[in-house]
Amino acid sequence: MGGNIYAATFAQNPSLMTIGDGVTLNSVPGHINGVWVVQQSPGTFLALDLTCTHQGCPVSRQGSEFRCPCHGAIFSASGAHVSGPGNGPLQSLSVCGDSTGAYITG
Ligand code: FES
Repeated sequence: MGGNIYAATFAQNPSLMTIGDGVTLNSVPGHINGVWVVQQSPGTFLALDLTCTHQGCPVSRQGSEFRCPCHGAIFSASGAHVSGPGNGPLQSLSVCGDSTGAYITG
């Protein structure tokens, strides 16, 4: 990944400041279907690639889950494979955060 860091600042993504709320980032290099980032607890973030692990369709967030429109796979809020076709959890990215936002490193 070349050590690149993608910054999702609170200034540009205010919903990231709310615990349990999140944002879809559409311009993270190498993640064409977007990346979901959420602040799970103060200062702890989760970043998931929104590509279905079955055949690569983009999944969308519905309620607290992610659903794939192609063949019906369902993933949990943390990206775990819940049901339907799929080959494991959604890919998680390395992410850290501070008082200014979340920073994706992988
Ligand atoms: S590509 Fe997502 S369920 Fe088939």
